[in-house]
Amino acid sequence: MDPLISELLKHKEALIAVISAIGVTLFYFTYQLYKSRKYHLKELKALGLYQDEMKEVMNEKLGIKEKRISSKIKVYWKGNKLIFSKYNRAFGIKNFENLKQNLETLFGKKIELITHEKQWFSSQPKIILHTEAFPETFLLSQRPKLSVGQLFLGIDALNRPVILESIKDFTSALLILAPRGSGKSVLINGMLISFFETLNEQGRSDEYELIIADNKGTDFIDVADRFRGAYYQPFNLKDLRELVGRLRQHKAEVEATLEYLKAHRISPRHWDELRTKKTQFHVPKKLFLVLDEMKQYFGSGKQAPRLSKEPTADELELKERFDLTREFGQIVNWLVEQTRSVGSVICGASQSPNKSDYDYPDFVNFPVMVLGQCNAQQSIQLIGDASLNDNTLTRGKFVIRDEFGTRRFLAPLSIKIKGDGNGVR
Ligand SMILES: Nc1ncnc2c1ncn2[C@@H]1O[C@H](COP(=O)(O)OP(=O)(O)OP(=O)(O)O)[C@@H](O)[C@H]1O
Ligand SMILES: [Mg+2]
Repeated sequence: MDPLISELLKHKEALIAVISAIGVTLFYFTYQLYKSRKYHLKELKALGLYQDEMKEVMNEKLGIKEKRISSKIKVYWKGNKLIFSKYNRAFGIKNFENLKQNLETLFGKKIELITHEKQWFSSQPKIILHTEAFPETFLLSQRPKLSVGQLFLGIDALNRPVILESIKDFTSALLILAPRGSGKSVLINGMLISFFETLNEQGRSDEYELIIADNKGTDFIDVADRFRGAYYQPFNLKDLRELVGRLRQHKAEVEATLEYLKAHRISPRHWDELRTKKTQFHVPKKLFLVLDEMKQYFGSGKQAPRLSKEPTADELELKERFDLTREFGQIVNWLVEQTRSVGSVICGASQSPNKSDYDYPDFVNFPVMVLGQCNAQQSIQLIGDASLNDNTLTRGKFVIRDEFGTRRFLAPLSIKIKGDGNGVR
């Protein structure tokens, strides 16, 4: 054996102590480096969240002197929350709001909400940045319990339920505009199932009537069966005739009821209270109307067909189809306006976000829009900024725009869509 090594081995304890000291030091520096990387300390400093610079200051006795001006930072993660409990004393909540975009880029996560909390040991509030915490998927079976008339859309980025109050607030005309395969039909199924399950639980299922229009004819078979809904494929003239006939009749009934209410000076908002045995008055059911694949039957550019002197069967059919589609579109417009007072639920869905692609319905009347990914220009037209130009808006993720503003949500996975292996029941 090398004499040097054998000599060293004689002082084993000392050797172990030296190696351990080197190890601990290395570990400490690696940990510090890791920590600063994880929390982007250098970048936070550049954003002004803390300082430790030298500054020349004037001192009356000593003249110019270099002084270290430093502020401390304490920042840590707790679940999806990034918490600042010590930071530049000059900073307040407003500064964090302004830095939101920088912090999002730095940490690679969307900040959904900024809150603050008092700290007993400091006059500075703790700043809490709640970052997006969407689960991978959310199943309909995980939904919260609802009350009658609530429309459950899914959960927001902080896992809070997104619920529309179709009876209380009458915000129940929704327009879902999102690309192919983004999860529109799954979302509508989720809304339908939770809505009608709740009605059933409360023994009030006879208050609503489910009508579905969808050219595909596959995505709503189960819900239509389960909740005794009517399922129409408008490309089929017979279906279109029946559907429009039924909506026409519904409209007539609602108008008669509104007349009655007006004559008796009753606000239509009391519609539900009239539905008692005492009143002995026929109150029509409310509609839950689903219009999926809208562009296929309301797509624009269809000219009124001209009939020749002796029209052929084809020409007559085209004309009838055109007239029925127009009546269908007009009734939908009327229904959407009426939801405000009647409380019916209208849910239209389609792939194209361009208004010019549709003759009906009138988009402006829909109080709630549910939107998927689109280009920046379309996004600006729809919500006034480019935030829909976002490639994370897929597989059940949408933006909802209602009277409270815009926010992202994840719809529940409710059904297995035909030809797709990913869905679960
Ligand atoms: N909430 C969700 N969570 C997870 N995956 C989803 C969700 N919604 C939809 N998906 C996935 O996306 C697929 C397509 O969904 P869906 O058929 O509802 O899209 P779509 O927008 O209706 O498409 P199209 O415009 O072609 O009708 C589903 O089969 C499913 O695999
Ligand atoms: Mg669909």
